[in-house]
Amino acid sequence: MCGIVGYVGPRPAQDLLLGGLARLEYRGYDSAGLVIGENGVLRSVRRVGKIADLMEAVAREPESFPGSYGVGHTRWATHGPPTVPNAHPHFDCAQEIAVVHNGIIENWVELKTWLEERGHGFSSDTDTEVAAHLIEELGPVSLAEAVAEVLRRCEGALAMAVVRRSDPGLVVGGRKGSPLVIGRGSGENFLASDIPAFMAHTRRMMIVPEERVVEVRSDSVRVTDLFGEESEPEEREVEWDVEAAEKGGYPTFMLKEIHEQPQAVAATLLGRIGAGGEPLLEETGLTGPVAKGIDKVFVVACGTSYHAGMMAKYALERWAKVPVEVDLSSEFRYRDPVLDERSLVIGISQSGETADTLGAVRFALDQGARVAAVTNVVGSSLAREAHMVFQTRAGPEIGVAASKTFITQMALLQLMGLHMAIERGVMTPAEAAGPVKALRSLPDRLEEVLGLSDRMLELAEGWRDVRDFFFLGRSVDYPAALEGALKLKELSYVRAEGYAAGEMKHGPIALIEPGVVVFGVATDRRLRQKMFSNLSEMKARGGTVVTLVGSEDRTEAAIPSDLVIPLPEDADLIGAVLAVVPLQLFSYHLATIKGLDVDQPRNLAKTVTVE
Ligand code: G6P
Repeated sequence: MCGIVGYVGPRPAQDLLLGGLARLEYRGYDSAGLVIGENGVLRSVRRVGKIADLMEAVAREPESFPGSYGVGHTRWATHGPPTVPNAHPHFDCAQEIAVVHNGIIENWVELKTWLEERGHGFSSDTDTEVAAHLIEELGPVSLAEAVAEVLRRCEGALAMAVVRRSDPGLVVGGRKGSPLVIGRGSGENFLASDIPAFMAHTRRMMIVPEERVVEVRSDSVRVTDLFGEESEPEEREVEWDVEAAEKGGYPTFMLKEIHEQPQAVAATLLGRIGAGGEPLLEETGLTGPVAKGIDKVFVVACGTSYHAGMMAKYALERWAKVPVEVDLSSEFRYRDPVLDERSLVIGISQSGETADTLGAVRFALDQGARVAAVTNVVGSSLAREAHMVFQTRAGPEIGVAASKTFITQMALLQLMGLHMAIERGVMTPAEAAGPVKALRSLPDRLEEVLGLSDRMLELAEGWRDVRDFFFLGRSVDYPAALEGALKLKELSYVRAEGYAAGEMKHGPIALIEPGVVVFGVATDRRLRQKMFSNLSEMKARGGTVVTLVGSEDRTEAAIPSDLVIPLPEDADLIGAVLAVVPLQLFSYHLATIKGLDVDQPRNLAKTVTVE
């Protein structure tokens, strides 16, 4: 949520900052800006709209931007609407100090009042502007000391990058709560919210640890804590290749990422299944004694990751015989959950930076629970704070709405369920062999369901004007239905309700009438007849029913449906994962037909670092 980038080096900062911002645009895209320093002058451009609008504005500037250091920002509005005065960077009164910020300064009103009393004038509605004035108020201290003081005085989540007119060639970053990474080039260095910002220029990176300040110059990077104590974060090599963050011939990242799902799952499972078919997840720390010591699992997650958590509950309970509760991260700690050292809290977050999930996990850590992270981002806050890390290895996901990270979360959580079952002694490796084999076949089955793309396009063309959709399922098909509805809302801006099919008769069935389209996910064979009865009830009330069903027992006459979307022969718990793919494709096609921006849907951000 909000992307920040900083550059210091011999090349024109303008190009590096704009390029970096374009790659961070998934974090927010309602307005953007940059500031570049050269010869004792700070020049800034800010625009409402996307990075392309900022690029145009920079190109239209009467004089070029020759500077070789600066910072940029792409915004997802929290305080104040997306307007030019609210776009970052924000300045102090003397226009000497420019700040870009990701996160929320929770005590900003108090700080602003204090600064106003001391004569500072504000020109935006943002919380961020207080940081610039606070640095000004601190007077002639080093910029690093000033940023450390800002971090000490500001409550909430912050990652910031600051330049000062009197400090040429220096970008100072600060981190408390929100992510910040350093890209180490040769004779140049970067600072950013996320790796894609500099991946095209260097693969050497460092994660800025919590509560640290970093001074970035072209030839050096110095990291200190909030009291000036120096430390040297570990340097890492970025494993993703640059192509992974490009569209690779697809018109959008979303379509590319949907089509990458088979390879992504293969990468998730690679090296994690033994020659005898047994899950190999011991390296995560989920060993026999740990697994046996768990008497309850709590899953916390948001958005699509929450649906993965809901689906995983079926695998963990069925196989590992452990009770599981699934909570929305934003609700978890406010309901006084009863946790102790025998509780395992699984935080699922592709980004590993979602504030709600981090809040839930930190609460669990405080209560003494054991915490596992399921995340796609190595070194993310969630990964660093958890006791055990399960990395999904989906590669970078740029489309704001999640696709391949969801499918890989599902594959990994199912493998985790089987591993736990064996480690807890409730399943033998021989008993687990069947489900492991099904998991192994998931990449091939995903290839098969991707073949449904044209069929889903046809449906989307036919239903471009439909205003109400329902997505129904029972048991593990219920979260699949919820995910189908979420995708349609996110990508196509169409009202879509995900509901437990059996619950429709208790109220929502009142909404079913001619013109309403109902997708029924019916992969759970135990419940298929009940599901068909529920769908008959929708059809009897005039709804148009589409059923996604596995090939086994599929006699079209028996299915109360206007249309059938055939899924591959379904194995236990895998069918629902497969059903999500045609639903992703349907939403994708409908959004494209409507001319919408599928990679960056309105009002959303990929990484939500505020509560
Ligand atoms: C945002 C995104 C969703 C995503 C959710 C959770 O709201 O728009 O697509 O599912 O965050 O993200 P996480 O990184 O925690 O999985």
